[in-house]
Amino acid sequence: ALVSLRQLLDHAAEHDYGVPAFNVNNLEQIQAIMEAADEVQSPVILQASAGARSYAGEAFLRHMVLAAVESYPDIPIVLHQDHGATPAVCQQSIRSGFTSVMMDGSLREDAKTPSSYDYNVDVTAKVCEFAHAVGVSVEGELGCLGSLETGEAGEEDGVGAEGKLTHDMMLTDPEQARDFVARTGVDALAIAIGTSHGAYKFTRQPTGDILAIDRIAAIHAAVPNTHLVMHGSSSVPQEWLAIIRQYGGDIKETYGVPVEEIVRGIRSGVRKVNIDTDIRLAMTGAMRQLLAEKPGEFDPRKPLIAARKAARGICKARFEAFGSAGQA
Ligand code: G3H
Ligand code: 13P
Ligand code: NA
Ligand code: ZN
Repeated sequence: ALVSLRQLLDHAAEHDYGVPAFNVNNLEQIQAIMEAADEVQSPVILQASAGARSYAGEAFLRHMVLAAVESYPDIPIVLHQDHGATPAVCQQSIRSGFTSVMMDGSLREDAKTPSSYDYNVDVTAKVCEFAHAVGVSVEGELGCLGSLETGEAGEEDGVGAEGKLTHDMMLTDPEQARDFVARTGVDALAIAIGTSHGAYKFTRQPTGDILAIDRIAAIHAAVPNTHLVMHGSSSVPQEWLAIIRQYGGDIKETYGVPVEEIVRGIRSGVRKVNIDTDIRLAMTGAMRQLLAEKPGEFDPRKPLIAARKAARGICKARFEAFGSAGQA
């Protein structure tokens, strides 16, 4: 059944686990997530970006998610809009049946320029007002995702802020979080702790100076009834990078957020963990491998089956590591 993010994460908070929120764009990704969730009996958060909706088309995306609900009637599913740039985008998603929306007011309408705090409060409070009136949950964001190593908002595929950010902008302040939650009423709050979107997060295995997991406990203490969200939480598996490179891909040396660091974050109060890149890497690696090993293959279902299986493996591992397995 479709449920709201608030319902799902209240249960997660009560039982001390985290829920991966996977980005979806197509049939095979939705199937992979649902198959893994069914196997380990995990609740599910399916999230769609603006890019996903322009890729699949709003009606296709909605009906594929409804097909997932119909096929897996016992698994609670949240349909969440990732990184809404304006209240109008959130309004449109609510009309289209989403049970949760993210109003990312940390950036201006262009989804590139860091906004003022007052702007963020204003647009987020507005979305909470109309979303809550119809039982839809709201995620806000305070602070900007960016690299504490380079000061770069650094997004190679154009998601998030552009250019240089100050150290302060890239770390959510607990006292400001308290004020933000009081003034907006958000159900969930995305925080900045040094992660960024995409495959190029860290140039080395991250340590506490560039990945501020230790800051989460203080933010959680300041906003105990608001569910914390970690964006940019792909782990960038070295084994998938190796397969991509082995079969002709060109991905530079790079490191993601180690699963054990996310698990520490969950122990400190993180409840929603956003993952897109890991599924992209696994699907791409699996498709490259299949097509390289079977050069005569021209049935697109074959690489897509391999990709779906690879994505399913990522999902199952995250459900198990984050403790959502067995909670459906
Ligand atoms: O927030 C970023 C997600 O990875 C979505 O990326 O805009 O390419 O769909 P996208
Ligand atoms: P990754 O790029 O680390 O997978 O993060 C995805 C995300 O935060 C979507 O909102
Ligand atoms: Na989101
Ligand atoms: Zn994000």
